[in-house]
Amino acid sequence: MHILIIFVKNFEMDRKKIQVNDLTFELSIHRDTIQKRVSEIAKVINESLSEKNPIFLGILNGSFMFASDLFKQINIPCQITFLKLASYDGMKSTGSVKQLIGINQDLKDRTVVILEDIVDTGVTLETIVRQLRGYEPNEIQVATILHKPDSLVRKVELDYVGFKIPNEFVVGYGLDYNGYGRNLPDIYTLVRD
Ligand code: IMP
Ligand code: MG
Repeated sequence: MHILIIFVKNFEMDRKKIQVNDLTFELSIHRDTIQKRVSEIAKVINESLSEKNPIFLGILNGSFMFASDLFKQINIPCQITFLKLASYDGMKSTGSVKQLIGINQDLKDRTVVILEDIVDTGVTLETIVRQLRGYEPNEIQVATILHKPDSLVRKVELDYVGFKIPNEFVVGYGLDYNGYGRNLPDIYTLVRD
């Protein structure tokens, strides 16, 4: 028993720490765990949307890794495109509403699946959904790799959620701190001192 406790403590102490700019982060979701979850989401989408000819809309920049990993495992007829809408500045959501740009496809009567890196306050997603409705799709679904339920201030419907996480700042797997950290294959949480 004593040995087990020591082992667990050591394991926590050994959590890999990294530096992104001036901040320290520690490993919180390993790449293998992420890939396993992405596969599970792909499986559900392949089953539930097989007859729907969905079009995936990856929201840049943050969703590019999730979109790529997920899309490789979609085996039904589908399309993908990427849209841009920035609303984040450093570590605080600016709350500023921005225009959705990059829609070239006809979305009328389509099943649209938004791909997000994270749903935090939900302000960004609400803006995107509102603007997309103007294109008269048949259905709008949302897949996000991360979700912070505790910071949600808008009512948004999420169809596929990778991981629910506490209200802590994270980087990696597409998510950034001041533009850095997006390349990390694992997800790291800010260490507060
Ligand atoms: P929301 O509008 O508050 O839901 O924020 C959505 C956007 O804020 C996401 O698409 C991210 O770009 C960014 N964001 C929210 N939380 C984090 C975080 O913990 N790390 C990095 N970016 C974040
Ligand atoms: Mg984003």
